Amino acid sequence: MSYVFNFQGRTVMVTGSGRGIGRAIALGFAASGANVVLCGRTKEQIDAVADEIRNQGGKALPVVTDLTVHDQLENLVKAAMDEFGKIDILVNNAARSFLRSLLDLREDGWDKVFDTNVKSVWLLSRLVAKHMIEQKGGKIINITTLGADKAEAGMAAYGCSKAALKMLTRCMAREWACHGINVNAVAPGFTRTDFSKPLWSNEDIAKHIASFIPKGRIAEPEDVAGAVLFLASDASDYITGDTIYVDGGTSTS
Ligand SMILES: NC(=O)c1ccc[n+]([C@@H]2O[C@H](COP(=O)([O-])OP(=O)(O)OC[C@H]3O[C@@H](n4cnc5c(N)ncnc54)[C@H](OP(=O)(O)O)[C@@H]3O)[C@@H](O)[C@H]2O)c1
Repeated sequence: MSYVFNFQGRTVMVTGSGRGIGRAIALGFAASGANVVLCGRTKEQIDAVADEIRNQGGKALPVVTDLTVHDQLENLVKAAMDEFGKIDILVNNAARSFLRSLLDLREDGWDKVFDTNVKSVWLLSRLVAKHMIEQKGGKIINITTLGADKAEAGMAAYGCSKAALKMLTRCMAREWACHGINVNAVAPGFTRTDFSKPLWSNEDIAKHIASFIPKGRIAEPEDVAGAVLFLASDASDYITGDTIYVDGGTSTS
């Protein structure tokens, strides 16, 4: 997919960028000229994306990071600053989920989902925002989901964590607008990645899901990247605290 944005000379950090939507976002930024900081827990995956970017003439820094470990967040930001001297754009994409009913969900399962999907976003954004404030501006984009607004059986911890992330987006936007930092969210609908593979890998279920999407097909990771690039670009300078839905029209009903 080709994008119309130019991020030459800018540095973007994308969490969870070794596969799926995060990988597509990282490659979209690299194709538009940005220096890309990649992170995730699986070294082989982020190394492979970094190689892909370098092979196309771009600059990439893979940093193995477990976002739920505070020291590792500090290490990630320091590594990015040491390599590129600034962070212009942060994309909080990494997330985890469990399919478990509220009656069966374990307490530590709830905590793991919230630690990854909400607490780590607050802590990493705060570390990065301190540099953005010195730089007099920046863009933060959080990846939420349609499930932040619609209750799905078995997805309570995930849905509640993403609803909290949607509110965190608005809170950060409110507090940091005065520093020139824009904070927005992108909410994908059902997207073809490992995350959702148990569903789309079954042809009958995939057809059933697509039948509820006005555009008539499940999203590809690249569909989500375009909205993220827009929110990271100068074209969206007066938009903050908002959410763009990338769901093929699903939320119209
Ligand atoms: N796929 C969908 O249908 C869909 C729909 C709506 C919203 N979304 C959202 O889109 C985003 C990306 O989802 P995806 O479908 O691309 O998922 P995915 O393929 O499972 O990728 C998730 C990424 O997050 C990373 N990650 C998870 N926990 C981490 C941690 N503690 N520390 C560092 N990295 C961590 C994973 O890397 P490691 O495992 O290597 O750490 C991986 O790179 C998520 O925010 C998700 O909620 C997805």
